[in-house]
Amino acid sequence: MTNEVYYPNPKLSKEARIKSMDEYWQLQNSAKKDYEGFWKKYADEKIEWLAPYSKVLDESNAPFYKWFIDGKLNVCNQCVDRHLEKRGDKVAILFEGDRGDIRKITYKELSQEVNRFANLLKEDFGIKKGDRVVLYMPMIPEAAFAMLACARIGAIHSVVFGGFSAEALKDRIEDAKAKLVITADGAYRKGKPYMLKPVVDEALEQGGDSVEKVLVVKRNNEEINLVEGRDYIYNDLIKDKSTECEFEVMDSEDPLFLLYTSGSTGKPKGVQHSQAGYILWAQMTMEWVFDIKEEDVYWCTADIGWITGHTYIVYGPLAAGATTVMFEGVPTYPDAGRAWKMVEAHKITQFYTAPTAIRVLHKMGEDEPKKYDLSSLKILGTVGEPIDPIAWKWYYEVVGRGECAIVDTWWQTETGGHMISPLPGATPIKPGSATFPLPGIMAEIIDENGNKPKVGETGLLCITKPWPSMIRTIWGDDERFIKSYFSTAKKDGKPVYFSGDGAMYDEDGYIWITGRVDDVINVSGHRLGTAEIEAAVKEDSHIAEVAAIGVPHPIKGESIFIYVVLKDEVELENVKEHVNEILASEIGNIAKADDIVAVPGLPKTRSGKVMRRILRSIARGEEIKQDVSTLEDPGVVEEIKKCVKDAKK
Ligand code: PRX
Repeated sequence: MTNEVYYPNPKLSKEARIKSMDEYWQLQNSAKKDYEGFWKKYADEKIEWLAPYSKVLDESNAPFYKWFIDGKLNVCNQCVDRHLEKRGDKVAILFEGDRGDIRKITYKELSQEVNRFANLLKEDFGIKKGDRVVLYMPMIPEAAFAMLACARIGAIHSVVFGGFSAEALKDRIEDAKAKLVITADGAYRKGKPYMLKPVVDEALEQGGDSVEKVLVVKRNNEEINLVEGRDYIYNDLIKDKSTECEFEVMDSEDPLFLLYTSGSTGKPKGVQHSQAGYILWAQMTMEWVFDIKEEDVYWCTADIGWITGHTYIVYGPLAAGATTVMFEGVPTYPDAGRAWKMVEAHKITQFYTAPTAIRVLHKMGEDEPKKYDLSSLKILGTVGEPIDPIAWKWYYEVVGRGECAIVDTWWQTETGGHMISPLPGATPIKPGSATFPLPGIMAEIIDENGNKPKVGETGLLCITKPWPSMIRTIWGDDERFIKSYFSTAKKDGKPVYFSGDGAMYDEDGYIWITGRVDDVINVSGHRLGTAEIEAAVKEDSHIAEVAAIGVPHPIKGESIFIYVVLKDEVELENVKEHVNEILASEIGNIAKADDIVAVPGLPKTRSGKVMRRILRSIARGEEIKQDVSTLEDPGVVEEIKKCVKDAKK
């Protein structure tokens, strides 16, 4: 924690929607006083209702909260159609390909593309309201068209990150019982083509029987296998589709999309988001946190496979009528100046990325930003993990020339949009702190019973009132929804949403996120459950036991450290390679571990519980504070230590 404070640039404050902390507190206090009234004001102002809602919030079936009861709307209308009159010729999506190819899609063109796509889904594949459609797509405009086309016809999309393996894709297809998969032949990364369609083929060979058809967008034109009667080429089918397509009238609470994310137990869970509450908050946070203006060019570097890509590449910016940049490549190719070159070329005003990317860009090209004209930048954002002071300062001073606001946004797949963040024109910033909850968001640090911890003491980061863009349930598993989020903490005797993160207040009330308190590892801002990693490795015939731990990593934030106990008689020449192959195939390359150590046994209590804290201390090279004498086999600790030491040699 630091007490260094950076005050907002006065020029930014003057032009910002929220100009001072006084204004912030006025808003937050008005929400505290009249919570429903607060949300009603914005819902009326921001959403194009097709039929009015009768009630703001229904808490009668908590924690299955409902927002804007009986209201009717269409999210695609909110993001596209309603802008046509005023912004038809404005660029909606500015696409830059890996190899520098550029496509500018105006709102009018976006409307035509989305309508044609929606007609294709309906006419050729019979996709109807409520059907699930899995997207396994690269970062190309057609991915956004597909999402909006689903929203238009009321189909529920589930985007699966393109880095997930066939097995992981199959699991997600099966859980959602998807009817259609939309994919691409592949795309380009670092100047070379890579493939996606073969992964879909493999997933469907393994299972995914609900899938009737596969739609393939051609991007890199590499050779692909087409299964007759199942696989169709988008580029052929789209040609004769009409650019007119009436949108479906949706209820506020109809599901908009599913997005799978990892938890501390079991398989990834399908986080279910709704229509009205989600799109309202996506738009409001674009306006408050990024202070988006009509002439701005906004760039978020996330992948559409994650929630950041959903809310802050597609839905939020488009609902706000902004120009959103979509980038196929990586910010370090062909060199460490690529991102800055793009900022200069497109005159980007808001740039939103993850601390991992900032650390990589810093390491690879400390002075690189100085070679480009970055004077268009006003607001810099970060998300996904706590940002360390070194990365923060470089971002602020070198990228932002000491003139930009840095918004360190804390939120989750489950929250739908930002929860805790500085407001660029108002909040005095302390580097590394996400500062304060946004107006209307009752984020609080408490203990299990709702008491506030002392300054500097870690507590549970909770959100003590329902908010419009919150997760509605876990797809098909209401019980797990309650257990995962509403069974850890209570306030005033009522269960409240627990995020899984720990956090603390400083003496000025700033919030400092300390990281996950559950068994979730955050690698380069990607969430991975230790249970999921362990389950994948345990299936292997050579392995008797496994434990996965997160350890601090200078670039990735955290990396994965795995202990394995091999079965008796088993000899494996290269344990690390072997286990990483399993992880790549069961989950994806993002789940590969940096350290894999074979040990003779795991430290267990007499009742058989693995003492993860001991394993964590050893992996991190920390002193073991627990009493090891009560272990079933106390000697195993020294043996594990020796194995780890040998492995590091
Ligand atoms: O641990 C927190 C961390 O990322 C988790 C959410 O991950 P996911 O659902 O994949 O969404 C990531 C993008 C929103 C949180 O539980 N996290 C996210 N933002 C921050 C953060 N940790 C610290 N500071 C942040 N700004």
